[in-house]
Amino acid sequence: MRKQIAAANWKMNLSFQQADQLLNSVVDAGIATKENQQVIFAVPFLYLSIANQLIGTVKNFNAASQNCYQKKEGAFTGEISAAMLHSMNISYCLVGHSERREYFNESNEILSEKIDRCLENDLTPIFCCGESLTIRAADQQKTFVETQLRDSLFHLSKEQITNLVIAYEPIWAIGTGKTATTIQVQEMHAHIRSVISNQYGTDTGDKISILYGGSVKASNAKELFNCDDVDGGLVGGASLQAEEFIQIIKALKC
Ligand code: 13P
Repeated sequence: MRKQIAAANWKMNLSFQQADQLLNSVVDAGIATKENQQVIFAVPFLYLSIANQLIGTVKNFNAASQNCYQKKEGAFTGEISAAMLHSMNISYCLVGHSERREYFNESNEILSEKIDRCLENDLTPIFCCGESLTIRAADQQKTFVETQLRDSLFHLSKEQITNLVIAYEPIWAIGTGKTATTIQVQEMHAHIRSVISNQYGTDTGDKISILYGGSVKASNAKELFNCDDVDGGLVGGASLQAEEFIQIIKALKC
């Protein structure tokens, strides 16, 4: 079975004290994850070290970066490289979140470089894709997402692409409380899997975990995660509350 993943994306939220408390609360819940389940906390860079300390001993819990820079090293003041993350024992990195694409002008080409930097440094990229409301209204979402995948991922070898997680996050469902329906989610996830399978073979397509993101909460997680091609979720707002996120972890398929 594919890896089932509950990933928290804290974005730019929480003080250090709140972060510490939240991580402790989730750890103290003593959730027994199954072999194929993974819990990931994408925290601000500043908190990666403490996150690793607090969750390091919990089985199947990992800290993740929310971003990395596309260059290897050098005079890029304020940026963080994939090699630095690797040197701090970080094993996952979000790449191409829609907020990065929109506010920081990250193009599909820049994201393909970030994917390369991650893979060179043994970081598993969680590659985010998804369409705006305008694209959905024009019924162009499938070709739009396919282009995002093609432009940023299709230079990878078959072996490389299996070391990657995809997160489908329709922009119109992020932070809006408006979750995509299970029919919309399953349809897009199956499409993403078929795009990968057509390029790399079904064996590869079948191996890649595809997460759904966009207003996932404790009350809708189980229904969303139960869709055939949904392998968990990337959670924003609801991951900032321990009890909500604990319930979301518990909603993962076994
Ligand atoms: P929300 O769960 O707050 O809608 O955010 C989703 C998201 O952007 C996760 O990366």
